[in-house]
Amino acid sequence: MSVSTLVQPFATNNEHFSLCAALAKQHGTPLLVLDVDKVRANYMQLTQALPNVALHYALKPLPHIDVVQALNELGGCFDLATNGEVDLVAQAGVDASAVIHTHPIKRISDIEHALHYGCTTFVFDSENELNKFVPYSDSVELLLRLSFPNKDAAADLSKKFGVAPSAALPLLKRAKELGIRVRGLSFHVGSQTMDAGKYVYAIEQCKAVFEAALDAGIGAMNTLDIGGGFPVSYTGQDIDIYDYCAPIRAALAAWPETVHFIAEPGRFIVANAMTHVMSVMGQSQRGDATWYYMDDGVYGAFSGRVYGEPEQRFFTQYSTEFAAGEPSVLAGPTCDSIDVIGERVLLPALQDGDLVFTQNMGAYTWTTSTDFNFFAKAELISLNNTLMVAQVG
Ligand SMILES: Cc1ncc(COP(=O)(O)O)c(C=O)c1O
Repeated sequence: MSVSTLVQPFATNNEHFSLCAALAKQHGTPLLVLDVDKVRANYMQLTQALPNVALHYALKPLPHIDVVQALNELGGCFDLATNGEVDLVAQAGVDASAVIHTHPIKRISDIEHALHYGCTTFVFDSENELNKFVPYSDSVELLLRLSFPNKDAAADLSKKFGVAPSAALPLLKRAKELGIRVRGLSFHVGSQTMDAGKYVYAIEQCKAVFEAALDAGIGAMNTLDIGGGFPVSYTGQDIDIYDYCAPIRAALAAWPETVHFIAEPGRFIVANAMTHVMSVMGQSQRGDATWYYMDDGVYGAFSGRVYGEPEQRFFTQYSTEFAAGEPSVLAGPTCDSIDVIGERVLLPALQDGDLVFTQNMGAYTWTTSTDFNFFAKAELISLNNTLMVAQVG
């Protein structure tokens, strides 16, 4: 059966939701529909917005082989943090020269696993971690991670990792004493950073550290890694990534030509490439609201509701207009009271078995799902990749 014969007449004109509904009919729900063409388009857009920056896709938000293969075909690079991620890029045939390992805390066995694959760039942010590289000083180059706290981000990644710029020189000096080459600095301004000024501030602070290291006789570094954090529109209001990156381009233009720039985008590459479909399992009137109990929830693809991910917008088979209908509660399937995806969600009256669609579900969803209560994780189906053509054709 081809994809086109699966598409059924639908109550609305939204072709993508029609296709997702047809796939849900075939595969069941909960279902995640990944459009690999969108992954490719996002990568190309960010390449144009940051022309002198090598994009290393951070596997964390969606460690899926179809994403890795598509980006590898486009000449993309990768940011890895775990042995599983090393194994995934190896399986996809990625050349080890295209990867960096950015987890600031590693077991010796993790370092050896990545080295065995051929990865030679690692991140550190403490003397304890630095010492682990002494036996491998001939084969590794390091990036020192700095912290730039950002309370406005969806996830502030500087609470747990990175050192203040003022603590950088002693660590760089110590690395030199140990004979370990530090090729540069890295940072992460926080996931879903809406204010590009956060990058500009961090880039300027890093420049001051590069200059101070040179003045102190520690030597010249040649790499600046500006991390991930590039934002996605969850509200329906478009973010023009080229305009967003304009201040970042300007800040990088002030650096010497000898410096090589890296970024580690995760969310931006995959978030808008995946649509989620779930079904109403049952419903009840509780107080003045209808509660719809769905077959996916915060223990599944909506885990981000618990740790501060942006709110999602929900669409139904009756209305692909956002916010149409009565204030309702969308609850997950498990027997746990915290398993509520959204309260006061405006929805038309739904029947058991009806479908609810959520866009922008590519990042931090499939990968952070559990099967708590034995409710199965959403199945992931890929569109526009060779594997899918083979499966459905
Ligand atoms: C070191 C590192 N780089 C990149 C990313 C990807 O960030 P984002 O998805 O915000 O682009 C993360 C996310 O946790 C990270 O920890």
